[in-house]
Amino acid sequence: MDLTVRHTYGTWRYQRGWKPLHIVDAEGCYFLDAAGKKYLDFSSQLMCSNLGHKNKAVIDAICKQAKQLPYVSPGFATTVRAELSKSLLKLLPEGLEKFFFTTSGTEANEAAIKIARLFTGKHKIISRYRSYHGSTAGSIAATGDLRRWTAEPVGKMDGVIFAPDADTYRSPFGSDHPNPGIASAEYIDYMIKNEGNVAAIMLEPVVGTNGVLVPPKEYLPMVREIADKNDVLLIADEVMSGWGRTGEWFAVNHWKVKPDILTTAKGITGAYAPLGLTATTREIADYFEDHYFAHGHTYEAHPLTLAPAVAAIKEYLRLDLIAEARKKGAYMGKRLSELKEKHESVGDVRGIGLFWAVELVKSRKTKEPFTNPKDKLSGKASVLDRMASEMMSRGVYILNWLSHFVIGPPLIISRNEIDQGIDALDESLNISDKEIE
Ligand SMILES: Cc1ncc(COP(=O)(O)O)c(C=O)c1O
Repeated sequence: MDLTVRHTYGTWRYQRGWKPLHIVDAEGCYFLDAAGKKYLDFSSQLMCSNLGHKNKAVIDAICKQAKQLPYVSPGFATTVRAELSKSLLKLLPEGLEKFFFTTSGTEANEAAIKIARLFTGKHKIISRYRSYHGSTAGSIAATGDLRRWTAEPVGKMDGVIFAPDADTYRSPFGSDHPNPGIASAEYIDYMIKNEGNVAAIMLEPVVGTNGVLVPPKEYLPMVREIADKNDVLLIADEVMSGWGRTGEWFAVNHWKVKPDILTTAKGITGAYAPLGLTATTREIADYFEDHYFAHGHTYEAHPLTLAPAVAAIKEYLRLDLIAEARKKGAYMGKRLSELKEKHESVGDVRGIGLFWAVELVKSRKTKEPFTNPKDKLSGKASVLDRMASEMMSRGVYILNWLSHFVIGPPLIISRNEIDQGIDALDESLNISDKEIE
């Protein structure tokens, strides 16, 4: 631990006070620390270990690829690149036919932004405040949350504008607005018409870290229509919401919306290797037949990242994990709603599939959060940080951000394991209940 702390950076935090737990092993829905203590992984690490830990088929695929052809320049064709492309064509929303492979979600979004600008010849990107699109220059500029604020001195990019969120709990149009989904979508239309030069709308179909915001049913179809009418591209960032997390292969499928560009990462390999994907329509692909595709990486289409994706997709299918996420998600939603009944500090429980947020408030009436962005940036431990530590002591790992927990366990989780996680959360909610006003 000492060497890790002294010589490597802890991400998104003040370095002082970082005491990372030393993890030595992981299997199924659990991981183990150096003292031999076992933890239930209730957030799939960073909502990425969708297949759980130590999946044999995926590990074998990595070993096989490593022995056969670990690396070759992206300028060459490989069998594994063709195999993965074939699988993606079957699974991605219809119309997404040409692929660019990266090694992270942020790079997938960088590619999407660049492609959208080159293809449309326009410059502006509409994003939303409650969003995270990644840490590199373009993606962080398109991020709405506080991670952009701190990075802005170095990561400012011209041309990103922010639209109101499709947030029904804290609607930017006021809590009693009769239809915040329609209002948020209509506002995007207004922005495009008044801004000019908008290349794309970039959004998480179900917002992830910023609170698992599931949009009202009319929102995404309306945004799709607005994009079409105004000749603007729709980029769906499914880095977190893809690969069964919401109970569909991709979240856009819930609303039958087809994006022009879809980005993803995380679950594509179940986090066994770092792979990101930018998928575009044939129309965009055709444009680059005779226009220079001004993008690339040394590790684009790296065989060692593609082989686990091929294997992971087979595992999603073999274990029927998309249907499992729907079934188990319904159970999880029921159990979480019980917590809302029982604990006064729970302001909202929302989610879809195996993707849930439990939002804590000091008062249900005012909806005042326990942690606001300014508190978070102060680096002081919040009530939610204390609760997450308490859950760790009970052997359950859960991710917290501002005033909510993000629950997104491996899709292989059993009902008993769901109960274990929820029981620990139930206990820890006594801490926030004591703090309500
Ligand atoms: C929606 C979304 N987009 C992009 C990213 C960035 O992905 P990465 O951390 O792999 O760069 C994340 C990461 O959490 C994400 O949740």
